[in-house]
Amino acid sequence: PEVITIQELANRMAEKGSDLVKSLFKLGMMVTINEAIDQDTAELLVEEFGHKITRVSDSDVEIDHDADVDADETMSPRAPVVTIMGHVDHGKTSLLDALRGTDVVAGEAGGITQHIGAYQVQVPSGDKITFLDTPGHSAFTEMRARGANVTDIVILVVAADDGLMPQTIEAINHTKAAGVPMIVAINKVDKEGANPQKIRERLLEHEVIVEAMSGEVQDVEVSALKKINLEGLVDKILLQAELLELKANPDRAAEAVVIEAKLDKGRGPVATVLVQRGTLKRGDIFVVGEQSGKVRALINDKGKQVPSAGPSEPVEVLGLTGVPSAGDKLTVVENEQRAREVADYRRQKALEKRTTMAPTNIDTMFSSLA
Ligand code: GTP
Ligand code: MG
Repeated sequence: PEVITIQELANRMAEKGSDLVKSLFKLGMMVTINEAIDQDTAELLVEEFGHKITRVSDSDVEIDHDADVDADETMSPRAPVVTIMGHVDHGKTSLLDALRGTDVVAGEAGGITQHIGAYQVQVPSGDKITFLDTPGHSAFTEMRARGANVTDIVILVVAADDGLMPQTIEAINHTKAAGVPMIVAINKVDKEGANPQKIRERLLEHEVIVEAMSGEVQDVEVSALKKINLEGLVDKILLQAELLELKANPDRAAEAVVIEAKLDKGRGPVATVLVQRGTLKRGDIFVVGEQSGKVRALINDKGKQVPSAGPSEPVEVLGLTGVPSAGDKLTVVENEQRAREVADYRRQKALEKRTTMAPTNIDTMFSSLA
Protein backbone atom coordinates (compact mmCIF):
# COMPACT_ATOMS: atom_id res chain seq x y z
CA PRO A 1 0.00 0.00 0.00
CA GLU A 2 1.27 3.38 -0.94
CA VAL A 3 0.79 6.28 1.42
CA ILE A 4 1.15 10.03 1.38
CA THR A 5 0.74 12.67 4.06
CA ILE A 6 -2.19 15.02 3.74
CA GLN A 7 0.14 18.02 3.62
CA GLU A 8 2.19 16.46 0.87
CA LEU A 9 -0.90 15.66 -1.17
CA ALA A 10 -2.19 19.18 -0.64
CA ASN A 11 1.12 20.59 -1.87
CA ARG A 12 0.92 18.49 -4.97
CA MET A 13 -2.60 19.67 -5.71
CA ALA A 14 -1.81 23.27 -4.77
CA GLU A 15 -4.67 23.15 -2.28
CA LYS A 16 -4.80 24.03 1.38
CA GLY A 17 -4.01 21.15 3.69
CA SER A 18 -6.79 22.28 6.02
CA ASP A 19 -9.32 21.93 3.19
CA LEU A 20 -8.27 18.34 2.69
CA VAL A 21 -8.60 17.68 6.40
CA LYS A 22 -12.12 19.18 6.30
CA SER A 23 -13.09 16.90 3.45
CA LEU A 24 -11.87 13.90 5.35
CA PHE A 25 -13.79 15.02 8.45
CA LYS A 26 -16.94 14.99 6.32
CA LEU A 27 -16.12 11.44 5.38
CA GLY A 28 -15.84 10.62 9.06
CA MET A 29 -12.07 10.43 9.17
CA MET A 30 -10.50 12.23 12.09
CA VAL A 31 -7.06 13.04 10.81
CA THR A 32 -4.38 15.65 11.27
CA ILE A 33 -2.52 17.33 8.47
CA ASN A 34 0.72 15.41 9.01
CA GLU A 35 -0.93 12.04 9.01
CA ALA A 36 -0.40 9.59 6.21
CA ILE A 37 -3.38 8.33 4.24
CA ASP A 38 -3.54 5.35 1.96
CA GLN A 39 -3.83 5.30 -1.79
CA ASP A 40 -7.61 4.85 -1.94
CA THR A 41 -8.26 7.77 0.35
CA ALA A 42 -5.79 9.92 -1.54
CA GLU A 43 -7.47 9.09 -4.85
CA LEU A 44 -10.82 10.00 -3.37
CA LEU A 45 -9.52 13.40 -2.33
CA VAL A 46 -7.85 14.04 -5.64
CA GLU A 47 -11.13 13.43 -7.45
CA GLU A 48 -13.11 15.41 -4.90
CA PHE A 49 -10.94 18.43 -5.57
CA GLY A 50 -11.33 17.97 -9.31
CA HIS A 51 -7.75 16.99 -10.08
CA LYS A 52 -6.49 14.30 -12.35
CA ILE A 53 -4.35 11.44 -11.12
CA THR A 54 -1.19 10.76 -13.00
CA ARG A 55 1.25 8.06 -12.11
CA VAL A 56 4.85 9.05 -11.94
CA SER A 57 7.53 6.46 -12.23
CA ASP A 58 11.01 6.52 -10.81
CA SER A 59 12.58 7.27 -14.16
CA ASP A 60 10.39 10.35 -14.58
CA VAL A 61 11.73 12.02 -11.48
CA GLU A 62 14.94 10.42 -10.28
CA ILE A 63 18.30 11.65 -11.46
CA ASP A 64 20.03 9.08 -13.61
CA HIS A 65 23.70 9.50 -12.75
CA ASP A 66 24.82 6.43 -14.64
CA ALA A 67 23.35 7.56 -17.94
CA ASP A 68 25.13 10.88 -17.57
CA VAL A 69 28.61 9.86 -18.67
CA ASP A 70 31.40 12.36 -19.22
CA ALA A 71 33.21 12.20 -22.55
CA ASP A 72 36.90 11.28 -22.42
CA GLU A 73 38.06 14.65 -23.68
CA THR A 74 36.35 16.44 -20.78
CA MET A 75 38.34 14.52 -18.17
CA SER A 76 41.20 15.98 -16.13
CA PRO A 77 43.42 14.28 -13.53
CA ARG A 78 42.14 14.49 -9.97
CA ALA A 79 43.69 13.88 -6.56
CA PRO A 80 43.39 10.40 -5.01
CA VAL A 81 40.98 9.95 -2.10
CA VAL A 82 42.64 7.94 0.65
CA THR A 83 41.05 6.34 3.72
CA ILE A 84 43.13 5.19 6.66
CA MET A 85 41.91 2.06 8.42
CA GLY A 86 43.22 -0.23 11.09
CA HIS A 87 42.85 -1.56 14.61
CA VAL A 88 42.24 0.63 17.66
CA ASP A 89 45.38 2.44 18.84
CA HIS A 90 47.50 1.31 15.91
CA GLY A 91 48.09 4.96 15.05
CA LYS A 92 45.51 6.02 12.43
CA THR A 93 44.98 9.46 13.86
CA SER A 94 48.69 9.98 14.56
CA LEU A 95 49.48 9.06 10.98
CA LEU A 96 46.86 11.44 9.63
CA ASP A 97 48.22 14.22 11.79
CA ALA A 98 51.75 13.47 10.66
CA LEU A 99 50.71 13.45 7.00
CA ARG A 100 48.81 16.66 7.49
CA GLY A 101 52.05 18.09 8.80
CA THR A 102 53.59 17.49 5.37
CA ASP A 103 51.10 19.90 3.82
CA VAL A 104 53.02 22.82 2.40
CA VAL A 105 49.90 24.94 2.01
CA ALA A 106 48.64 24.61 5.57
CA GLY A 107 51.94 26.03 6.79
CA GLU A 108 51.80 28.95 4.41
CA ALA A 109 48.19 29.86 5.11
CA GLY A 110 48.89 29.80 8.82
CA GLY A 111 45.22 29.10 9.43
CA ILE A 112 43.84 26.76 12.01
CA THR A 113 43.01 23.49 10.34
CA GLN A 114 39.58 22.55 11.48
CA HIS A 115 38.18 19.09 11.60
CA ILE A 116 35.73 18.53 8.80
CA GLY A 117 36.07 14.78 8.41
CA ALA A 118 38.08 15.10 5.25
CA TYR A 119 41.00 17.19 4.16
CA GLN A 120 43.39 17.68 1.31
CA VAL A 121 47.13 18.12 1.56
CA GLN A 122 49.54 19.35 -1.04
CA VAL A 123 52.77 17.42 -0.71
CA PRO A 124 56.14 19.03 -1.54
CA SER A 125 56.07 17.57 -5.08
CA GLY A 126 53.01 19.71 -5.72
CA ASP A 127 50.66 16.72 -5.88
CA LYS A 128 47.49 16.75 -3.85
CA ILE A 129 46.08 13.91 -1.76
CA THR A 130 42.65 13.89 -0.13
CA PHE A 131 42.39 12.04 3.17
CA LEU A 132 39.20 10.86 4.76
CA ASP A 133 39.43 11.02 8.50
CA THR A 134 38.94 7.52 9.91
CA PRO A 135 35.20 7.19 9.44
CA GLY A 136 35.10 4.03 11.52
CA HIS A 137 34.48 0.74 9.87
CA SER A 138 30.74 0.80 10.30
CA ALA A 139 30.53 4.15 8.51
CA PHE A 140 32.66 2.74 5.72
CA THR A 141 30.37 -0.27 5.35
CA GLU A 142 27.29 1.94 5.55
CA MET A 143 28.54 4.18 2.79
CA ARG A 144 29.46 1.25 0.64
CA ALA A 145 26.01 -0.27 1.19
CA ARG A 146 24.59 2.98 -0.16
CA GLY A 147 26.71 2.64 -3.24
CA ALA A 148 28.96 5.49 -2.22
CA ASN A 149 32.39 4.20 -2.93
CA VAL A 150 34.33 7.32 -2.23
CA THR A 151 37.74 5.85 -1.53
CA ASP A 152 40.35 5.23 -4.21
CA ILE A 153 43.01 3.83 -1.90
CA VAL A 154 42.97 2.34 1.60
CA ILE A 155 45.94 2.64 3.91
CA LEU A 156 45.93 -0.26 6.34
CA VAL A 157 47.76 0.72 9.50
CA VAL A 158 49.24 -2.13 11.52
CA ALA A 159 51.25 -1.51 14.67
CA ALA A 160 54.52 -3.40 14.39
CA ASP A 161 54.53 -4.19 18.10
CA ASP A 162 50.99 -5.51 18.19
CA GLY A 163 50.38 -7.36 14.94
CA LEU A 164 47.19 -8.28 13.14
CA MET A 165 44.15 -7.70 15.33
CA PRO A 166 40.39 -8.22 14.76
CA GLN A 167 39.81 -4.78 13.30
CA THR A 168 42.84 -5.16 11.06
CA ILE A 169 41.26 -8.24 9.54
CA GLU A 170 37.91 -6.52 9.33
CA ALA A 171 39.55 -3.67 7.44
CA ILE A 172 41.21 -6.11 5.04
CA ASN A 173 37.84 -7.70 4.31
CA HIS A 174 36.12 -4.35 3.78
CA THR A 175 38.84 -3.23 1.45
CA LYS A 176 38.69 -6.42 -0.58
CA ALA A 177 34.91 -6.25 -0.80
CA ALA A 178 35.13 -2.69 -2.05
CA GLY A 179 37.75 -3.67 -4.62
CA VAL A 180 40.00 -0.84 -3.54
CA PRO A 181 43.80 -1.12 -3.67
CA MET A 182 45.53 -1.21 -0.31
CA ILE A 183 48.82 0.08 1.00
CA VAL A 184 50.04 -1.50 4.23
CA ALA A 185 51.64 0.99 6.60
CA ILE A 186 53.56 -0.89 9.26
CA ASN A 187 53.56 1.70 12.03
CA LYS A 188 55.42 2.16 15.32
CA VAL A 189 58.66 0.75 13.93
CA ASP A 190 60.47 2.97 16.45
CA LYS A 191 59.16 0.84 19.30
CA GLU A 192 61.03 -1.81 21.18
CA GLY A 193 59.80 -5.23 20.08
CA ALA A 194 58.58 -4.00 16.71
CA ASN A 195 58.64 -6.86 14.23
CA PRO A 196 57.62 -5.73 10.74
CA GLN A 197 58.61 -9.02 9.12
CA LYS A 198 56.23 -10.96 11.32
CA ILE A 199 53.39 -8.73 10.15
CA ARG A 200 54.22 -9.38 6.50
CA GLU A 201 54.09 -13.10 7.19
CA ARG A 202 50.83 -12.92 9.10
CA LEU A 203 49.28 -10.93 6.25
CA LEU A 204 49.85 -13.90 3.95
CA GLU A 205 47.26 -15.81 5.96
CA HIS A 206 44.72 -13.23 4.84
CA GLU A 207 45.85 -13.28 1.23
CA VAL A 208 47.51 -9.93 1.47
CA ILE A 209 50.87 -10.47 -0.22
CA VAL A 210 53.09 -7.45 0.13
CA GLU A 211 55.91 -6.49 -2.21
CA ALA A 212 58.58 -7.64 0.23
CA MET A 213 56.98 -11.10 0.00
CA SER A 214 56.95 -10.92 -3.81
CA GLY A 215 53.35 -9.78 -3.93
CA GLU A 216 51.70 -6.71 -5.40
CA VAL A 217 50.47 -4.93 -2.30
CA GLN A 218 52.72 -2.01 -1.44
CA ASP A 219 54.02 -1.94 2.12
CA VAL A 220 55.98 0.67 3.98
CA GLU A 221 57.52 0.91 7.45
CA VAL A 222 56.73 4.15 9.24
CA SER A 223 56.61 5.81 12.58
CA ALA A 224 53.83 8.34 12.90
CA LEU A 225 55.20 9.45 16.25
CA LYS A 226 58.84 9.90 15.21
CA LYS A 227 57.83 10.96 11.69
CA ILE A 228 59.95 8.27 10.11
CA ASN A 229 59.50 7.58 6.39
CA LEU A 230 56.36 9.62 5.81
CA GLU A 231 57.81 10.59 2.41
CA GLY A 232 58.02 6.89 1.61
CA LEU A 233 54.33 6.49 2.35
CA VAL A 234 53.42 9.58 0.32
CA ASP A 235 55.45 8.24 -2.63
CA LYS A 236 53.58 4.94 -2.51
CA ILE A 237 50.23 6.72 -2.43
CA LEU A 238 51.20 8.80 -5.46
CA LEU A 239 52.50 5.73 -7.29
CA GLN A 240 49.27 3.85 -6.62
CA ALA A 241 47.25 6.88 -7.70
CA GLU A 242 49.18 7.08 -10.96
CA LEU A 243 48.34 3.46 -11.72
CA LEU A 244 44.67 4.19 -11.16
CA GLU A 245 44.68 7.10 -13.66
CA LEU A 246 42.10 8.99 -11.63
CA LYS A 247 40.16 11.51 -13.68
CA ALA A 248 37.01 13.57 -13.55
CA ASN A 249 35.30 16.28 -15.56
CA PRO A 250 35.64 19.52 -13.60
CA ASP A 251 33.49 21.60 -16.01
CA ARG A 252 29.99 20.39 -15.36
CA ALA A 253 27.22 20.53 -12.78
CA ALA A 254 28.69 19.10 -9.59
CA GLU A 255 28.10 15.74 -7.98
CA ALA A 256 29.39 15.10 -4.48
CA VAL A 257 29.01 12.60 -1.65
CA VAL A 258 28.18 13.47 1.94
CA ILE A 259 30.98 12.43 4.30
CA GLU A 260 29.26 13.71 7.41
CA ALA A 261 26.46 16.09 8.27
CA LYS A 262 25.13 17.81 11.35
CA LEU A 263 22.82 20.49 12.61
CA ASP A 264 24.99 23.39 13.68
CA LYS A 265 23.46 25.74 16.24
CA GLY A 266 24.56 28.91 14.53
CA ARG A 267 24.81 27.86 10.92
CA GLY A 268 21.94 25.42 10.50
CA PRO A 269 22.35 22.14 8.62
CA VAL A 270 25.96 21.66 7.49
CA ALA A 271 27.27 18.86 5.30
CA THR A 272 30.87 17.95 4.59
CA VAL A 273 30.93 16.67 1.05
CA LEU A 274 33.55 15.31 -1.27
CA VAL A 275 33.12 16.52 -4.84
CA GLN A 276 33.29 13.62 -7.29
CA ARG A 277 32.84 15.40 -10.59
CA GLY A 278 32.05 18.90 -11.76
CA THR A 279 32.63 22.02 -9.72
CA LEU A 280 30.39 23.00 -6.84
CA LYS A 281 29.88 26.77 -6.65
CA ARG A 282 28.28 29.27 -4.36
CA GLY A 283 24.69 29.82 -5.49
CA ASP A 284 24.31 26.33 -6.97
CA ILE A 285 20.93 24.69 -6.43
CA PHE A 286 21.09 21.08 -5.40
CA VAL A 287 19.31 18.03 -4.10
CA VAL A 288 21.05 15.85 -1.52
CA GLY A 289 19.33 12.66 -0.42
CA GLU A 290 15.90 13.75 0.76
CA GLN A 291 17.03 17.33 1.26
CA SER A 292 17.62 20.17 -1.14
CA GLY A 293 19.14 23.61 -0.95
CA LYS A 294 21.14 26.43 -2.45
CA VAL A 295 24.83 26.77 -1.65
CA ARG A 296 25.05 29.76 0.70
CA ALA A 297 28.71 29.23 1.52
CA LEU A 298 31.50 26.75 0.93
CA ILE A 299 34.18 26.32 3.57
CA ASN A 300 37.34 24.37 2.89
CA ASP A 301 39.36 22.18 5.27
CA LYS A 302 41.45 25.16 6.32
CA GLY A 303 38.32 26.91 7.58
CA LYS A 304 38.30 29.40 4.72
CA GLN A 305 35.36 30.41 2.58
CA VAL A 306 35.91 29.43 -1.03
CA PRO A 307 33.87 30.27 -4.13
CA SER A 308 34.00 26.73 -5.51
CA ALA A 309 35.28 23.17 -5.04
CA GLY A 310 36.31 20.76 -7.78
CA PRO A 311 36.81 16.98 -8.04
CA SER A 312 38.37 15.27 -4.98
CA GLU A 313 38.02 18.45 -2.93
CA PRO A 314 36.32 18.17 0.44
CA VAL A 315 34.22 21.13 1.43
CA GLU A 316 31.58 22.15 3.94
CA VAL A 317 28.28 23.17 2.40
CA LEU A 318 25.89 25.64 4.02
CA GLY A 319 22.37 26.31 2.79
CA LEU A 320 20.60 22.98 3.16
CA THR A 321 16.93 22.53 4.02
CA GLY A 322 17.78 19.73 6.44
CA VAL A 323 20.48 17.33 7.55
CA PRO A 324 21.30 14.62 4.99
CA SER A 325 22.92 11.24 5.78
CA ALA A 326 26.49 10.13 5.26
CA GLY A 327 26.73 8.53 1.86
CA ASP A 328 23.95 10.63 0.32
CA LYS A 329 24.71 12.00 -3.09
CA LEU A 330 24.55 15.73 -3.69
CA THR A 331 23.57 16.69 -7.23
CA VAL A 332 23.40 20.18 -8.67
CA VAL A 333 20.19 20.69 -10.66
CA GLU A 334 18.78 23.40 -12.97
CA ASN A 335 16.41 25.12 -10.58
CA GLU A 336 14.71 25.06 -7.20
CA GLN A 337 11.57 23.46 -8.55
CA ARG A 338 13.55 20.49 -9.84
CA ALA A 339 15.44 20.19 -6.55
CA ARG A 340 12.21 20.18 -4.58
CA GLU A 341 10.60 17.71 -6.94
CA VAL A 342 13.39 15.16 -6.49
CA ALA A 343 13.65 15.69 -2.72
CA ASP A 344 9.85 15.40 -2.30
CA TYR A 345 9.82 12.26 -4.37
CA ARG A 346 12.56 10.65 -2.32
CA ARG A 347 10.90 11.63 0.95
CA GLN A 348 7.66 10.16 -0.31
CA LYS A 349 9.36 6.92 -1.26
CA ALA A 350 11.13 6.74 2.10
CA LEU A 351 7.80 7.29 3.85
CA GLU A 352 6.23 4.50 1.82
CA LYS A 353 9.09 2.22 2.72
CA ARG A 354 8.74 2.94 6.42
CA THR A 355 4.97 2.44 6.49
CA THR A 356 4.86 -0.56 4.24
CA MET A 357 4.82 -3.79 6.17
CA ALA A 358 5.18 -6.23 3.32
CA PRO A 359 7.67 -5.56 0.57
CA THR A 360 5.81 -4.20 -2.42
CA ASN A 361 6.85 -2.80 -5.70
CA ILE A 362 6.87 0.90 -5.10
CA ASP A 363 7.59 2.55 -8.37
CA THR A 364 4.63 4.82 -8.60
CA MET A 365 3.41 7.77 -6.62
CA PHE A 366 0.70 10.36 -6.67
CA SER A 367 0.94 13.48 -8.59
CA SER A 368 -1.71 15.70 -10.01
CA LEU A 369 -2.32 18.51 -12.37
CA ALA A 370 -3.40 21.55 -10.45
P1 GTP B 1 41.77 4.91 17.62
O1 GTP B 1 41.32 6.15 16.96
O2 GTP B 1 41.43 4.85 19.07
O3 GTP B 1 41.36 3.66 16.89
O4 GTP B 1 43.38 4.90 17.62
P2 GTP B 1 44.34 5.31 16.46
O5 GTP B 1 44.54 4.16 15.55
O6 GTP B 1 43.90 6.58 15.86
O7 GTP B 1 45.71 5.50 17.24
P3 GTP B 1 46.36 6.86 17.73
O8 GTP B 1 46.91 7.63 16.60
O9 GTP B 1 45.42 7.54 18.65
O10 GTP B 1 47.62 6.27 18.52
C1 GTP B 1 47.47 5.43 19.64
C2 GTP B 1 48.70 5.56 20.51
O11 GTP B 1 49.83 5.07 19.81
C3 GTP B 1 49.02 6.99 20.91
O12 GTP B 1 49.47 7.00 22.23
C4 GTP B 1 50.15 7.36 19.97
O13 GTP B 1 51.02 8.31 20.51
C5 GTP B 1 50.85 6.04 19.77
N1 GTP B 1 51.55 5.97 18.48
C6 GTP B 1 51.02 6.21 17.26
N2 GTP B 1 51.96 6.05 16.31
C7 GTP B 1 53.09 5.71 16.93
C8 GTP B 1 54.41 5.41 16.48
O14 GTP B 1 54.74 5.44 15.28
N3 GTP B 1 55.32 5.08 17.43
C9 GTP B 1 55.02 5.03 18.76
N4 GTP B 1 55.96 4.69 19.59
N5 GTP B 1 53.80 5.31 19.20
C10 GTP B 1 52.83 5.64 18.32
MG1 MG C 1 42.06 7.67 16.06
